[in-house]
Amino acid sequence: MERDSERTGAFTDKLRVPEALTFDDVLLRPKESRVEPDEADVSTRVSTNVELNVPILSAAMDTVTESQMAIAMARQGGLGVLHRNMDVDEVVAEVERVKRADELVIRDVVTADPEQTVREVDKMMDRRGVSGAPVIDEEDQVLGIISGTDIRPYLEVGESDEVREAMTDEVITAGEDVTPREALELMYEHKIERVPIVDEDDRLTGLVTMQGILQRREYGDAARDENGHLLVGAAVGPFETDRAVAVDEAGADVLFIDCAHAHNLNVIDGAREIKESVEADVVVGNVGTREAAEDIVDFADGIKVGIGPGSICTTRVVSGAGMPQITAVAEVADVATEEDVPVIADGGIRYSGDAIKAIAAGADAVMLGSYFAGTDEAPGRVITVDGKKYKQYRGMGSVGAMQSGDGDRYLKDEPDEEEEYVPEGVEAAEPYKGSLESELHQLVGGMQSGMGYVGAETIPAFKERSEFIRVSSAGQTEGHPHDVMITDEAPNYSPSE
Ligand code: XMP
Repeated sequence: MERDSERTGAFTDKLRVPEALTFDDVLLRPKESRVEPDEADVSTRVSTNVELNVPILSAAMDTVTESQMAIAMARQGGLGVLHRNMDVDEVVAEVERVKRADELVIRDVVTADPEQTVREVDKMMDRRGVSGAPVIDEEDQVLGIISGTDIRPYLEVGESDEVREAMTDEVITAGEDVTPREALELMYEHKIERVPIVDEDDRLTGLVTMQGILQRREYGDAARDENGHLLVGAAVGPFETDRAVAVDEAGADVLFIDCAHAHNLNVIDGAREIKESVEADVVVGNVGTREAAEDIVDFADGIKVGIGPGSICTTRVVSGAGMPQITAVAEVADVATEEDVPVIADGGIRYSGDAIKAIAAGADAVMLGSYFAGTDEAPGRVITVDGKKYKQYRGMGSVGAMQSGDGDRYLKDEPDEEEEYVPEGVEAAEPYKGSLESELHQLVGGMQSGMGYVGAETIPAFKERSEFIRVSSAGQTEGHPHDVMITDEAPNYSPSE
């Protein structure tokens, strides 16, 4: 008899469950404030050694982040995390593309040969999309510079003349250590638009252009490394040490161990091995509990949180496992904060209010997929259905994504037949949204408003000062537009979301 009642007690005890909350369950309690939203500083740390000017990352998904998105994210002060549904060679090229964008000194310089004809050079410059080229000899010595203005017909240069006759041979060059300001001064002083960079033997090593300098100025808040290159992250599988070493050597700043369940002990072993093999910071994820955080906090440079909150995720319904995101973030942040390890809240963010709630729960930065999938910078083309424009967005655990990569994010072996996949995500479409810049403007602006309501000027101060209140379902209804017919779409709110 006693054994029976003990057994009953054991199972019914399981029903005394702790509460776990997500975005719609809570709101930030408004507080006394002198902080104007525009003055709120949203800079943060994404990992132990890497800082961002805005606390936002684009998801490592094949419909969200390739180099175009990563470049745009870093220019706006955030971080793009390249997905891993591509070969190692391809991702290395993608990292290099981001690192080359906006660089002061162009290394892949289009050059001309003094014996080429003007016609040939004109065509070459057209093809390569440049309007001028240094003319070099076989030893890479700079002999002159040729530009569109040198070869226009009104200057009476024949198309079949040699470049050496048409080029400007008084070339202003600079050394490797030239600063943007010095280069610009040279350009103004000599009325030129490009300055070849030479080594101590006067051999061409690069080129600085006026256009390049002005472009860098335009992105004053960009997230850059110590050499001025844009920051970039890359996803790697927990057992992909080769990929990790390759992207590390290519210059990726942060590697993200990309796994749906990083509390799997084999995954942790793999992540430790990767951490020991690379120089870049290593963020480990995803996890959603205090215990998982305790098992990785000693070696991770950042911890990424999210077990099934994503818009395209079916992990919770397929596996029955998961953790509502606000509670997951708070549990992990309790552990990570003690060790000064940054936390990233990944998935489930639909509005800027969700993003700042994740920070209040203890995250240092947030990662989004669906929010960015409809922008120009996301991979894929715009499709039109019933007159409305969309872009494809699919879970990395969807059948389509698993077929074009490998299912090891979900710790699954590759099946022989399509129907044998056990997906944990769906394939969908996102309304087309235009440029990333305007989406980010709304996202960051909304987060700054949250900081204003709480009265915190910085992200660390906001994490400390913010408090949650619990919202009933009546409160949730009250929080959205209600009892009206919306006549004009707001740039940051869509009722269908
Ligand atoms: P949002 O809500 O921003 O979420 O679209 C993006 C995050 O979702 C995760 N992710 C998945 N989770 N099945 C899952 O359970 C999937 O197929 C899947 N694909 C992506 C991922 O963490 C991403 O950053």
